[in-house]
Amino acid sequence: MRFSKLMFAFDGNPVSNKNEAKFHSISTNLVIFSYLNNRCTKSHLMNTQTTVKKIPFISLRTEPGFDEAVEARWQKALHNSQFIAGPATKELESKILDYTQANNFIPCANGTDAIQLALRAVGIGQGDSVLLPDFTFWATYEAIINVGATPIMVDVSSQDYQMDFDLFLEAVQKFKPKAAILVHLYGWCSSRLNEFRAYCSKEKIFLIEDGAQSIGSLFEGERIFQSAFLATTSFYPAKVLGAAGDAGGIFCQDKAIAEKCVQLGNHGRSSHYGHEYVGWNSRMDELQAHFLCESLEKLPERIKSRRESEKKYFDFISKNPNLPLEAKLEPSNIQGNGYLQVSIAKSSYKDLSAKLNLLGITTGNVYPSPMSAQKGAINPILVSKDHVTQQISKKVINLPLFPYMTDSEIDYVCDCLVNSSS
Ligand SMILES: Cc1ncc(COP(=O)(O)O)c(C=O)c1O
Repeated sequence: MRFSKLMFAFDGNPVSNKNEAKFHSISTNLVIFSYLNNRCTKSHLMNTQTTVKKIPFISLRTEPGFDEAVEARWQKALHNSQFIAGPATKELESKILDYTQANNFIPCANGTDAIQLALRAVGIGQGDSVLLPDFTFWATYEAIINVGATPIMVDVSSQDYQMDFDLFLEAVQKFKPKAAILVHLYGWCSSRLNEFRAYCSKEKIFLIEDGAQSIGSLFEGERIFQSAFLATTSFYPAKVLGAAGDAGGIFCQDKAIAEKCVQLGNHGRSSHYGHEYVGWNSRMDELQAHFLCESLEKLPERIKSRRESEKKYFDFISKNPNLPLEAKLEPSNIQGNGYLQVSIAKSSYKDLSAKLNLLGITTGNVYPSPMSAQKGAINPILVSKDHVTQQISKKVINLPLFPYMTDSEIDYVCDCLVNSSS
């Protein structure tokens, strides 16, 4: 197994030097002596003989031969000066359609553009209301604003942490949205996805599924994008299928919508110098497409490995009720892709995270506050009863999870959880 040195923050930029200390190289082990002497107070968390392992929150591990295969592809592209709209983009299109079982795939520059292209392709713009969950990454909100529409936040269900269907119905009655964006957060999705899809189809509400985190997930046994009217994804490097930079894509059933997405993402072109719409440049470049073609081959193995690690955590935490956290799994009609480990801290997420950090483990609290509470959300409109998003976003703790974690790494995290209980 190759342990890649590439390290990325979750939804932002590659880790800067300043942050790098938080994302330690996986193979570094330190003896805890001096570490504890320097860093711990009298409430030492572990016996001083214990070896501290550095477990990053995420590490992009790949398979033997992966780098070489990518390099060979990139050399060929360089040699042939094939950088835009070349054979790799075509190859990716056919491979990804095969994998996702979707009808059409449109590659683009990133996952945020993918949502904007999807919204524009179905005619969403000024004066239109668009529903989105209050619990998501900011890009979902931004995309709605960037096309000139009005975002309406809907609270999530305490069961699956995805948009609450009953509140969605309430929001539809109140705001008459032209579109709704569901976000398949954590690589899960709403257990009521079928009801969302059927309702939107019947009521002529354009339903866009933000699947930035969900490639490879199954809903009721079916590939998640297969029956989606319109879905988008992100190939940001830390995603389950990540590129070597920014990239994204759109999946849709309708050929005409697919063609409009292609045009909008290529300066609204109808011919080389013919511009039917005002679009922008959101093309995926060939180097990313080559990297993604290679990664796609490995995706089933990577997802299997992620899911196995997630299950090990879940089993351990479930069998140890005195631990300071409870592990969550996706609803039973969904098979997630193991994008994130999701736990709920029983008391303070920050204290637990700090304790684990002292033991060399980096945790996440991915999405620590609702969209409606962001400074950038001007006059936010929220449909909610108990503001579940507000409650859970403060309590989620994500344990390290990435492809090819070793048993000893998972055991170490589990041991540290036990040691953090007191
Ligand atoms: C739910 C969600 N939507 C949209 C995006 C935006 O993707 P990108 O960073 O590729 O623009 C992300 C990724 O970070 C995401 O997690």
